Amino acid sequence: MTRRDGVGVTVRAPAKINVGLAVGAARADGFHELASVFLAVSLYDEVTATSARTLTVTCEGPDADKVPLDRTNLAAQAAELLANRHSFSPNVHLHIAKDIPVAGGMAGGSADAAAALLACNALWRLNTSYENLLALCAELGSDVPFSLIGGAAVGVGRGEKITKLPIGGEFHWVLALANGGLSTPIVFREFDRLVQGADIPPPVTSSPLIEALAAGDPTALADTLHNGLQPAALSLWPSLAATRAAGTEAGALASLVSGSGPTTAFLVEDAKAAAAVAAALTASGTCRMARVATAPALGARVLQAASGRQDPPPARRLPSQDRPHSDRRP
Ligand code: C5P
Repeated sequence: MTRRDGVGVTVRAPAKINVGLAVGAARADGFHELASVFLAVSLYDEVTATSARTLTVTCEGPDADKVPLDRTNLAAQAAELLANRHSFSPNVHLHIAKDIPVAGGMAGGSADAAAALLACNALWRLNTSYENLLALCAELGSDVPFSLIGGAAVGVGRGEKITKLPIGGEFHWVLALANGGLSTPIVFREFDRLVQGADIPPPVTSSPLIEALAAGDPTALADTLHNGLQPAALSLWPSLAATRAAGTEAGALASLVSGSGPTTAFLVEDAKAAAAVAAALTASGTCRMARVATAPALGARVLQAASGRQDPPPARRLPSQDRPHSDRRP
């Protein structure tokens, strides 16, 4: 089997914010029933998959030191899952060029998983159907299916059952990145603590929110933004209130904590307002950095396919224990 050093498949996947997040009670499996309105924004990670002797992960970017490079990395788990389904070993090098904040409530790990899945699918020429890719995404994590489809969508169940939503125009955002991250399970536990003893209604998707997205109307969207995890994120990270105040004072139409936080998302009128709000947030010292972004962004997409001489598809594992070593590598 040939090596193709330096030749790989690169896939780009977007960050998300939850413009609406209704959180229900904890289920028996520990997950919470959600009605989530996802919106993909133009902040991206890129994953490049290259044939290798074994599964390895490297990462570059400002948050690279916070990314695990072992099999706890969701991109590594995506490669493993796909290879296991086809009974061969995930012999691939995954390089992650990371621009989405780590543990920021923007589904950066999920974006990497969706990107790795698509990249390995192309590298190994498996031609997995879109439906099966979505099912694999759902196994990997609640937000991973949305990272694959992008745009705008409603997610129910634990967030993984996705229906695409129409979106009528471009929305401008400023993202205030915090100095550190929040663990999603810890934020959900804080949610449980805050609502203890309360009667939690089943989560429902807001119709006005969906209409505002379909109309492409930022003022209407500003009135309907909501995040049921926000009180929990603010309880764990009280200084986010100062970040929100700084962005609102600078002219943002509305703000909300993105998912489980601690990134704060500010909806603004247009690109000019985005630049002004980003500058004011940076000057305020209430966040690590402010980034501008637009929505909707496309879901995970192949940017660069493997070129040059093609490897044959990976050899399947032989049923016998003593298969030749060379068969274990795609
Ligand atoms: O699905 P994912 O692995 O991304 O979820 C991470 C964690 O977030 C879960 O282990 C769980 O603690 C929490 N979670 C939840 N309810 C959801 C989604 C996630 O409680 N619907």
